[in-house]
Amino acid sequence: MSAATPAGQKIYEGKAKILYTTEDPDVLLTHFKDDATAFNAQKRGSIVGKGQMNCAISTHLFQLLEAEGVATHWLDSPSANEMRVRTVKILPLEVVVRNIVAGSLCQQTGLALGTVLKQPLVEFYYKNDALGDPLLTRDRLFLLELATPAQVEQLQIAALKINQILSGFFERCGITLVDFKLEFGIDTQNRLLLADEISPDTCRLWNQGDSDPTQRVMDKDRFRHDLGNVEAAYQQVLERVLAQSIEK
Ligand code: TMP
Ligand code: ASP
Repeated sequence: MSAATPAGQKIYEGKAKILYTTEDPDVLLTHFKDDATAFNAQKRGSIVGKGQMNCAISTHLFQLLEAEGVATHWLDSPSANEMRVRTVKILPLEVVVRNIVAGSLCQQTGLALGTVLKQPLVEFYYKNDALGDPLLTRDRLFLLELATPAQVEQLQIAALKINQILSGFFERCGITLVDFKLEFGIDTQNRLLLADEISPDTCRLWNQGDSDPTQRVMDKDRFRHDLGNVEAAYQQVLERVLAQSIEK
């Protein structure tokens, strides 16, 4: 048992969320902000209602994943833009899963935007803003001791399972899950838990009814590339996600 901590103290402020202590040292309160950044915070702005929308979307998706046996940090969501989560030590890794070529994979390999991958690609990036979150090789990951070989194996398996669950879910929403980023943490009982958020900030989501490469975008690429109608796209994702029960 750890000692009680004063509740309501800000312990971390990131680009999209603030973390506060609670009376229970094993529980933190996450506050989702409307602030939006892109390109390692070189572009800054705000998406009206994003905090509430991302909190609600993440809440639904964490519940879906928990129901499918994925351990997450989510406990409950006491208000529209707040989530109570298990305290974890975040691994300094961004785990990206890709089903379709887009974004940096497109830019760095020359593969055509929209190419469907024969099998999902799992990539590890170093979560380090000062270095611009570089893509890691396995050897560099181990060199920097960012995770153990056993943890990397566990992360790879969890990422692929999460991809399968989320791809199926978004399919039922009429949305293609192009790619997404996950973060994981270790809790006080040394369990590996899915953490952070799953939202249009962290996923590429394409509307299946639309083949137009600009119109189909329902995620933060609308903000990154000034495509307009950002709030409406997030709202549409929220409505479709909430309309789908977490049962198959
Ligand atoms: P990328 O194609 O720019 O590497 O992005 C891959 C996925 O990761 C995409 O769904 C957006 C998400 N992502 C984040 O959540 N945070 C980030 O800082 C970046 C660069 C990407
Ligand atoms: N996380 C990025 C940033 O540092 C935003 C993004 O491209 O998703 O601003």
